[in-house]
Amino acid sequence: MFIGVDYYPEQWPRERWETDLKLMKELGINVIRISEFGWTLMEPEEGTYDFSLYDDAIKLITSYGMKVVLGTPTATPPAWLIQKYPEVLPADENGVTIGFGARRHYTVNSKTYHLLSKRIVEAMAKHYGDHPDVIGWQTDNEYGHEKSDRSYSEVDQEAFQEWLLQKYGSLEELNHRWGTVFWSQTYDNWSQIPVPRKVYQEHNPSLLLDFNRFCADAYTAYNRMQVETLREHIREDQFITHNFVYTGLAQDQKAIAEDLDFISFDNYPVWGGLAEPIKPAAIARQHDLCRGTKNGKGYWVMEELSGAQGWSQIGYLPRPGHLKLWTYQAIARGAEAIVYFRWRAARFGTEQFCHGILDHDGVPRRKYKEVKDVIDSLKRRGDDLIAADFPAEVGFYHDPENDWAWQIQPQSDQFDFIQEFLRFYEPAHALQVQGNIIRDDVDLSAYKVIVVPIYFLTKKGFNEKLEQFARQGGTVIFSYRTGVKDQDNVVSEKTLPGELSNMCGIEVHEYDSLRGSRSATVKGTAAPLEGLSAESSVWCDFIEPTEAEVLATYEDDEWFSGRAAITRNYVGRGQVYYIGTGVDRSMLLPLYEAIFKEAGIETTDTPEPVEMVTRVGDDVTYVTVLNHSVEESFDVKLPAGKWIDASNGEETFEGTLTLKPLQSIILESSN
Ligand code: GAL
Repeated sequence: MFIGVDYYPEQWPRERWETDLKLMKELGINVIRISEFGWTLMEPEEGTYDFSLYDDAIKLITSYGMKVVLGTPTATPPAWLIQKYPEVLPADENGVTIGFGARRHYTVNSKTYHLLSKRIVEAMAKHYGDHPDVIGWQTDNEYGHEKSDRSYSEVDQEAFQEWLLQKYGSLEELNHRWGTVFWSQTYDNWSQIPVPRKVYQEHNPSLLLDFNRFCADAYTAYNRMQVETLREHIREDQFITHNFVYTGLAQDQKAIAEDLDFISFDNYPVWGGLAEPIKPAAIARQHDLCRGTKNGKGYWVMEELSGAQGWSQIGYLPRPGHLKLWTYQAIARGAEAIVYFRWRAARFGTEQFCHGILDHDGVPRRKYKEVKDVIDSLKRRGDDLIAADFPAEVGFYHDPENDWAWQIQPQSDQFDFIQEFLRFYEPAHALQVQGNIIRDDVDLSAYKVIVVPIYFLTKKGFNEKLEQFARQGGTVIFSYRTGVKDQDNVVSEKTLPGELSNMCGIEVHEYDSLRGSRSATVKGTAAPLEGLSAESSVWCDFIEPTEAEVLATYEDDEWFSGRAAITRNYVGRGQVYYIGTGVDRSMLLPLYEAIFKEAGIETTDTPEPVEMVTRVGDDVTYVTVLNHSVEESFDVKLPAGKWIDASNGEETFEGTLTLKPLQSIILESSN
């Protein structure tokens, strides 16, 4: 498998390159990503190209037997370009131009920028498209990151109007679907429609949702232009990828990915200013999103954190063991290659405190040894492991449009899309039940349980698909605020949960947004929740069962007390759960456990910070066991049979394995 580093030869004296490459070689590095911010070097003035620095670097890199991934440099338009074509600059919500000085300072809707990008991409593709050691390409760098996903300039406004014309065809249609009769917003000319710049209070939610879709489409089109330009000139076996982030951007990674050979991901479990890493389930969710982006296809981690990160604020220092743990977790969940960010911390520029395998002084120490240990440990079975299947019996529905609808109207100050998604994802993760993150296009019959969290913005065809799935014996889990909106971001006129009401066997007549520190208490009234009590936050739907059975009720003041909070309905041969409130894991965990048991899905009882991921190969099954705790050791019960340490093929384990803090291990067993 490929294990590499992100390297910036332009940031170091040439005399140092050889030392770096020797050290990389000793480490076992076999691929290097370069050039994704090197536009001025490659095109120092408009139309003049100079690839000499990267030519020299590539020559040296390949003399050490390593391969190269090239980044197109369009995340950093040079000073000359901005001076000459200031119209490519983006604008913020106030209409204020975002200036030159950092990166990503372009609006993806600028035709001029498309043209200038196409020219540099074409020049690079012609120059390196047949290089035997250039194995692939990364387009741009982290589309949409650092708030560059939404731009509000005049150029964007015109493009938005054009996009709306294409979508609606007539203003009558747009006015009708957006409900512009509200507040006298009826448009009689396309040029009247604004991008959602600052207004008193808030814009029309239908306009806002379409604006997000428009921004997403713009990035898809921009990436397609780069891909098509590359494809015209590069060898067929050179791959094209892009390194995504998954943080609720106005972007559709899945649509972009259709034009890519595979996707890449930048994995930063902790970054600038964070006091501690994000939760294991939150990291796992990102990997599951990556694997789901091309329906199960493996992906690259193009940037895997290797040191403390930060610009003006430095985040938590990853402890000894973290690099291995997060690398193993990534591979276990679907990464096929790992590229560490970055080889060495820069001495100058904005990212002086983004530490790497080496720090500023360039001396290999603890982190270097740790990466070496990881690479050595993967030599024996890495290739086989990445080719093994990722079995999954649960699907988690995730649609960026639903995320945008929630961003537009969070409805409770306690609501955060990722946290609420995690609320309904984490219990499965804790029970070591593997799931895929899916969209509405997948075949549901591959699953036993489908979790559809915070399904606010519904999709007609998918509603029917879910009902069919339940009728045929599947289990569906819905949460609060299901079925509220249609695709125009307009509220359903049916009694809530709207289109899903029949299937859930309930109606929701009233609800309460739990703001600030408000919470409610939920009491289990029937199996499997009987006798349990838990806190809930964010939201309370008051459920009126029509067909469904009540599993839990609220028990707060007189008004809340006895009202249904969690229900189950039998539909055909299947079951549909409705969890009407942001109930905490002390109730969700037993509920999920019971649901999985009934659905015939095996759960594993492990201490909370321990994660186990199973991959099934042709001859061998692998279980990656990860202890995410920095402080505690745990005894972990292994699946039945004899397990061997896959890194050496020697040590054997059976029954219980004691894992030290931050210890991680890949085990194997013959099928
Ligand atoms: C990533 C980015 C890198 C670098 C890194 C710092 O988001 O792609 O270029 O900025 O973060 O942590």
